Amino acid sequence: MSVVKINAITVPKDKQERFEERFKGRAGAVESTPGFEWFELLRPVEGTDQYLVYTRWESEEAYRVWESGQDFARAHEGGGSELAPAASNSSHLWSYEVIESAAPDRP
Ligand code: HEM
Repeated sequence: MSVVKINAITVPKDKQERFEERFKGRAGAVESTPGFEWFELLRPVEGTDQYLVYTRWESEEAYRVWESGQDFARAHEGGGSELAPAASNSSHLWSYEVIESAAPDRP
């Protein structure tokens, strides 16, 4: 069963541009991580001011291996505290199990 791990992160208005730029220049290592299935950076438009970093993994174990490994550490070097001050307050990890999913049925 796939699992979804979402980093929900509040970025102050004056840091949002820089935050998005950082993601444009992100490490790009997650793509080649075993068990990785999907990543999306979601910019808040209405109803919330939290960015969501959506990731989907083949298993909990696959996520844990990535999160505790060097690629995660490298991808986050210098990225966090400056852009999301008091990150422990402004960032939350949400975990889900995928119980249904669908893709477009196109020929
Ligand atoms: C305080 C916690 C966190 C902050 C402030 C943060 C912020 C950032 C930033 C700014 C980047 C862009 C790269 C850089 O500039 O360093 C990044 C990359 C990334 N973050 Fe986080 N992050 C945090 C925790 C997490 C967690 C828990 C996840 C798990 C879902 C996650 C998923 C990712 C992914 C998938 C990338 C792209 C890595 C790649 O390209 O290989 N982050 N993060």
